[in-house]
Amino acid sequence: AAASFGTLSGNAPLVIAHRGASGYLPEHTLAAYELAIRMGADIIEPDLQMTSDGHLVAFHDNTLHNDTNPPTNAADVFAPRNGGWLVSDFTLAEIQSLEVKPRLTAQTEFPGFTPSAENPLRVPTFREVLTFLTDYNTANGTDIGIYPESKTPNRPELSRKLVEELREFGFTSAAQPVYIQTFSFEGLLDLGAIQAELGTDMRQVALGGAIVSGGVFGIFEFGTNSFFDLATISERADGLGVFIGNFAAQALSAEWIAAAHDAGLEVHGWTFRPTTLEASIDLTQPFIDWGMDGFFTDFPDLTRQTIALN
Ligand code: G3P
Ligand code: CA
Repeated sequence: AAASFGTLSGNAPLVIAHRGASGYLPEHTLAAYELAIRMGADIIEPDLQMTSDGHLVAFHDNTLHNDTNPPTNAADVFAPRNGGWLVSDFTLAEIQSLEVKPRLTAQTEFPGFTPSAENPLRVPTFREVLTFLTDYNTANGTDIGIYPESKTPNRPELSRKLVEELREFGFTSAAQPVYIQTFSFEGLLDLGAIQAELGTDMRQVALGGAIVSGGVFGIFEFGTNSFFDLATISERADGLGVFIGNFAAQALSAEWIAAAHDAGLEVHGWTFRPTTLEASIDLTQPFIDWGMDGFFTDFPDLTRQTIALN
């Protein structure tokens, strides 16, 4: 369809595969990222944690136990450390001996899809994700992007390695399909400084909640509830990743998105996870009409089909 969109670029909104095709396969696995691309995602979204030996891994939680199963013979290795299972207390080798388990409605096999990676359901390093993506784009002549998140609490050493590895793989500029995101507004300043030092200029995204305070459009920082107006955020970021939950209670609106666009900011919403096309249309179409620039989705096929109806 030759629709026109109210996005900042005027292009169709981006389908951002939230933790890969995480509605279908265990999140943040190479299999989930690959399936997401096959389903029409523009961009894959890895959350990043750092292991005890300094590797970045694609993993959402600060702790291992909710999303992995220890191998049955590894009771000693996976006894709690410092009272728990922090990713940062385990080595990469230890973490890669685990098996990522399905969350939500995910199943470990998806009909008609055979992942190309050797260990498709293991916790991948960020480097492995970047290698997979680069190889995929080269083999298929595509330009699929990446949207890594520096997980909070803010760790400048994690953000530095994130930027270093993106740079190593040739992602250096705002002209490329790459966004760097964080929930920490302080962390955005760190990311900006790191990028300036390393000579990169990739787009940065502030994750938060839309709000109108005293008639001023802005976003609040989760955790601190600090309010920042859109002009202030535009000094730290090129885009906003906004929570879409509790729809009616949110300040998110056509006017709010227009104000963000006036401040030069793209607006990406999270997280879209209806399980049928009909429900996807019901949830997503109003945001398309408001000019939202991208959708973090667990079901990239349904979001792609929803956008295609415009
Ligand atoms: O990064 C946008 C969205 O993914 C934030 O929520 O907790 O899924 O990383 P979370
Ligand atoms: Ca995320």
